[in-house]
Amino acid sequence: MIPIMSSAPLSTATPISLPVRKIPGSYGFPLLGPLWDRLDYNWFQKLPDFFSKRVEKYNSTVFRTNVPPCFPFFLGVNPNVVAVLDVKSFAHLFDMEIVEKANVLVGDFMPSVVYTGDMRVCAYLDTSEPKHTQIKNFSLDILKRSSKTWVPILVKELDTLFGTFESDLSKSKSASLLPALQKFLFNFFSLTFLGADPSASPEIANSGFAYLDAWLAIQLAPTVSIGVLQPLEEIFVHSFSYPFFLVRGGYEKLIKFVKSEAKEVLTRAQTDFQLTEEEAIHNLLFILGFNAFGGFTIFLPTLLGNLGDEKNAEMQEKLRKEVREKVGTNQENLSFESVKEMELVQSFVYESLRLSPPVPSQYARARKDFMLSSHDSVYEIKKGELLCGYQPLVMKDPKVFDEPEKFMLERFTKEKGKELLNYLFWSNGPQTGRPTESNKQCAAKDAVTLTASLIVAYIFQKYDSVSFSSGSLTSVKKAC
Ligand code: HEM
Repeated sequence: MIPIMSSAPLSTATPISLPVRKIPGSYGFPLLGPLWDRLDYNWFQKLPDFFSKRVEKYNSTVFRTNVPPCFPFFLGVNPNVVAVLDVKSFAHLFDMEIVEKANVLVGDFMPSVVYTGDMRVCAYLDTSEPKHTQIKNFSLDILKRSSKTWVPILVKELDTLFGTFESDLSKSKSASLLPALQKFLFNFFSLTFLGADPSASPEIANSGFAYLDAWLAIQLAPTVSIGVLQPLEEIFVHSFSYPFFLVRGGYEKLIKFVKSEAKEVLTRAQTDFQLTEEEAIHNLLFILGFNAFGGFTIFLPTLLGNLGDEKNAEMQEKLRKEVREKVGTNQENLSFESVKEMELVQSFVYESLRLSPPVPSQYARARKDFMLSSHDSVYEIKKGELLCGYQPLVMKDPKVFDEPEKFMLERFTKEKGKELLNYLFWSNGPQTGRPTESNKQCAAKDAVTLTASLIVAYIFQKYDSVSFSSGSLTSVKKAC
């Protein structure tokens, strides 16, 4: 491992000493090039090989390629991107002086605004747009205010969740994680962000999470692999967008729920942040559904899966020891402050995010011409070009992370571990950064890692050991 950029770790200033290199790779023939790359991406090579094979081929972590969706029915979508696949080149995605993020979420493709009340919600806005400032600040304010009730609500909802798991385990060999987790997430975020209790509406309490699932799935279908037999997936899932009317009923019920049960938050959006009621509702649903519910639905099964089973006894023992030393087994001792003192638990969470970033790809468009540097070369980027970073490769950059493929529980501990947080990018920014209205970093950068740490701490207060396997909980040994 070479020493990583020391004093200004994420500086995107052009170093004079590196050689200028023409960006390797090409977009191929019109229509055929994008189509071939699309088939490689979704079918022949798949991720991460699609990117790692091209790194090898071009002997460069920066190259030109196409990413889906594209031809034949996504005619307005330009699939041409410049891939940035090492820590240093990827960091340019966060420098809002040189990149912009208007209508950029999944490459050049953006789900139709009919899914979000015919408006561009926060995620689609660039930092230069005043509306981004209003909504980002609104989301930061929601998090700040809900932090007062966050931990007690979390513990109460976790009691219900693990009660369900234990009951399932008493009847069968394993308890499937996802359905119960999604109900837990929906209740938790409704109560904390919206100040709205789903039990006020039996239909929302039972099906709210399923309405969000359907709304998310239909928007993201053209861009994610779901493992359907090929070429059926290419033809029926990745070739066109499905119409909104298929999920309209559920989305409208969620709107009604927010309107009637989240009155206080809606009033604050209008009085303190000058948003209209409509803007507040659709942004709240996007933050609740896409960001929070969507993000944690991917992240939590991975996090719990990393606790593993009896083969991970040593790691579980270390985590349990730290938790019990800091907070014993009394759940009233759990707090943001107490988990901040759990270095190992936090490192476990960071390492999980490093190896399995829940939002794997990030994109940004060049605001102007600039020189982009990787570890060993400098490349010329033209205004308007789309940069594409694929984190699962970037977070294994061997110039930054020792034994990058290995899950190392202690990686983010001590001085050296703290320094590495400069290069942990899951939130569309470094873990040492601060989400503000001037950047596009996840508003919940700290809330996510602290909540995940609280969940791990909760588990080791309650249980001596746990076993997770293939998306299920297979056994728990209660704390003596
Ligand atoms: C595990 C859970 C989460 C993950 C993995 C995650 C990840 C991300 C990522 C990668 C982005 C940047 C997207 C991009 O432009 O490329 C983002 C943006 C955002 N996230 Fe999160 N997020 C999570 C949870 C949350 C939660 C709980 C909130 C609640 C407030 C939240 C609020 C936001 C907002 C408002 C933005 C847009 C920021 C902006 O436009 O400036 N996220 N999130």
